[in-house]
Amino acid sequence: MDPRANAPSSIVEWTEAEKYQNSFLIDEEDDTLEFILKNSISHGLPSHMPVSAGEGKFLNLLIKCLGVKRVLEVGTLGGYSAIWMARAIPEDGKLVTLELNETYAQVAKENIVQAGLGDKCQIIVGPAHETMTNLQPEIPFDMVFIDADKKSYPKYFREAKRLVKKGGVIIVDNVIRYGNVHDESVNDENTVGIRKLLAELKEDSSKGEIEATTIPTVGEKGFDGFLYAIRK
Ligand code: DHB
Ligand code: MG
Repeated sequence: MDPRANAPSSIVEWTEAEKYQNSFLIDEEDDTLEFILKNSISHGLPSHMPVSAGEGKFLNLLIKCLGVKRVLEVGTLGGYSAIWMARAIPEDGKLVTLELNETYAQVAKENIVQAGLGDKCQIIVGPAHETMTNLQPEIPFDMVFIDADKKSYPKYFREAKRLVKKGGVIIVDNVIRYGNVHDESVNDENTVGIRKLLAELKEDSSKGEIEATTIPTVGEKGFDGFLYAIRK
């Protein structure tokens, strides 16, 4: 076996690896995304929360390969992931994104317009669970991306199941949280929220309603994971 196979590694190394990969695969002179990240920081939005460029592009590619037209996002922040996703959505598609914080929503709107995606995206300001409960879309969503307060993940996921079409995809960010989720001595409400979601997913899958898997990730955002679920 390669001597490095079982060696400990660190966020420094993960970040280097990610940067190296991105230098071949992701446009590093994307002025729009650069503007958006800077604009978000200058308005005081947290910089450690948006998805990484690689994750944004992964969502973008998924939308293209699955032929997704309608996306629901829970947690807009500054619109970074929304922009990656909306770029892949065809002209007759739509992204609806939910944000609690009015300042974040205002910055996201500015960013989305700057990206030329204002017509494809709708931001709904308010508590996401309430908004989701009130949504009665004529056509269900093809994909839901959940990336908001982790304590509410179980209830977001329950609504996402209702709002996504059969065969549709629900993706959930941050399901490992630096290893906190599987360390049962950690019991903050966000970590507990993700644990509850996993327990509910186990039940959903035993009832044949959901099939899901987690892809653990390491990189500039630390040790975390993307959960990928399909509604059956
Ligand atoms: C946090 C939230 C996120 O969605 C994320 O991707 C990283 C960190 C946070 O709340 O700290
Ligand atoms: Mg996240």
